[in-house]
Amino acid sequence: MNSIEMNISKMNVSKMNVSKMNVSRVPRSKSAARASYDRMGKWYDLFASPFEKKFVNTGLQKLHAVPGEIILEIGFGTGQGIFELAGSVGNSGRVCGIDISEKMCAITRSKVEKAGFSERVQLVCGDAAKLPFPSESFDAIFMSFTLELFDTPEIPIVLQECRRVLKKDGRLCVVAMKQKHDPTLMIKLYEWAHGKFPNYVDCRPIFVREMLEDAGFCIRDTTEISSWGLPVEVVVSGKV
Ligand SMILES: C[S@@+](CC[C@H](N)C(=O)[O-])C[C@H]1O[C@@H](n2cnc3c(N)ncnc32)[C@H](O)[C@@H]1O
Repeated sequence: MNSIEMNISKMNVSKMNVSKMNVSRVPRSKSAARASYDRMGKWYDLFASPFEKKFVNTGLQKLHAVPGEIILEIGFGTGQGIFELAGSVGNSGRVCGIDISEKMCAITRSKVEKAGFSERVQLVCGDAAKLPFPSESFDAIFMSFTLELFDTPEIPIVLQECRRVLKKDGRLCVVAMKQKHDPTLMIKLYEWAHGKFPNYVDCRPIFVREMLEDAGFCIRDTTEISSWGLPVEVVVSGKV
């Protein structure tokens, strides 16, 4: 390694440390996360979806899926994003979704069938840390309130998987709770609640933009929106 390469690798290490600073760890196991979403599935549209809707819609607008595209949604929950995406890609496009919860998969699958979208939507139940799709198969990936559920060391693994399955000029839109270097009182309160009730307040704020940059994505657009003083970041990034 020459001196320039050494400096770059030092810069990457310090950048990675910055993006991991102040990000709490996730103590629960994958099976506990799956069980928690299986329990929540029935109530999700009543309680969580209305809060998330405006952020999800902003993300979908920014991703701007067009007819004919092949899109992946990671952690689709009760299918808010899947429907919008299925409408945007039209008859000539395709939407794939992956979610770890059997209950979320069952709920969304039945909605997809009722809406007559079965031909263009394919849903898989599985862990996004190991995407069951071939390399370079998607034009775009959408992920809302899901990246922040992965434990800190696993986030780069998920993002590398996203890079692998995205086409060369593909784009990734992440909607996630935003951590700040100087966290506000609301962020601190929220994190306290997350520590106390990790199964109910399970998303935690992360450094979305920095984590994407660490994973080699280039940032194309970022928007910050707040709700009740809690910042949410919508980041569109590109593979190159
Ligand atoms: C907070 S919900 C968000 C749902 C939806 N994206 C929305 O914005 O309304 C997170 C979703 O991610 C799924 N999930 C959690 N861990 C996952 C994993 N390791 N792989 C795939 N999906 C996961 C959960 O089952 C749940 O449906």
